[in-house]
Amino acid sequence: MEFAYICAMNHDIIKPYDAEGEKKAQVTSMFDRIAPYYDFLNRLLTLRIDVLWRKKAIALVSSPDVKEVLDVATGTGDLAIAVAKALPQSKVIGMDIAVKMLAIGDQKLEKLALTDRVTLEAGDSEAMRYEDGRFDLAMSSFGVRNFGNLKKGLSEMHRVVRPGGRIMVLEFSRPRVFPIKNMFNIYFKYVLPVIGKLTSKDPRAYKYLYESVQQFPDFENFTKILEEVGFKHSSYKPLTFGICTVYLATK
Ligand SMILES: C[S@@+](CC[C@H](N)C(=O)[O-])C[C@H]1O[C@@H](n2cnc3c(N)ncnc32)[C@H](O)[C@@H]1O
Repeated sequence: MEFAYICAMNHDIIKPYDAEGEKKAQVTSMFDRIAPYYDFLNRLLTLRIDVLWRKKAIALVSSPDVKEVLDVATGTGDLAIAVAKALPQSKVIGMDIAVKMLAIGDQKLEKLALTDRVTLEAGDSEAMRYEDGRFDLAMSSFGVRNFGNLKKGLSEMHRVVRPGGRIMVLEFSRPRVFPIKNMFNIYFKYVLPVIGKLTSKDPRAYKYLYESVQQFPDFENFTKILEEVGFKHSSYKPLTFGICTVYLATK
């Protein structure tokens, strides 16, 4: 199978395996497949910087009035766990479409004795079962790039946040400054897929990571989309030379 790269409307839709199949189904099976290796590879491939990125992002939204939190595309629950630790008053729901990722997250919650404050649930970001305005904060780390329909997922995040509540999105971006831009490209395009292939046993997964980051609308392109789906006061803060960016906005 050739790597999928097809055009639909304004955006190129990058899919992990097959140009013909639905992105959502392919993303789900990819994450279910790599679930046992996911945390290990995250730490290895980012040299643990991913942990710092989540902490920094959470610091930007931490306030005493944040009590009900939704972590969309929670995966193995790292962002949900980090927010529960940072905000002791919070109750967190983490939702994800890949149940094998959630199963790993559940084991972590048990070990950390956080099961009373963090609940992980299966669900699709594009059709959430939560009522309008339920959450003070909806957030996602490295999740939205994988949505089948980005605007639909973000609109759902907008719907479930209360008026005055916030969205926080942490996502890879493409550094613009020499020589970081060039180093990042070499690492993401050539080094990371080889390590990912050997370790996760899925030759496509980490190639998809590179391709999906290339296609993702980063920086002001993403804040524009946040405004289009109804958020206000959108802003972004690049982390580590813009390898990763935190996006914030208010409903
Ligand atoms: C790169 S992982 C990020 C996991 C976690 N947030 C983290 O920071 O490590 C992306 C996650 O997005 C989830 N995902 C992709 N599309 C989704 C959708 N439509 N609804 C819910 N989760 C989705 C995948 O199953 C996967 O667990």
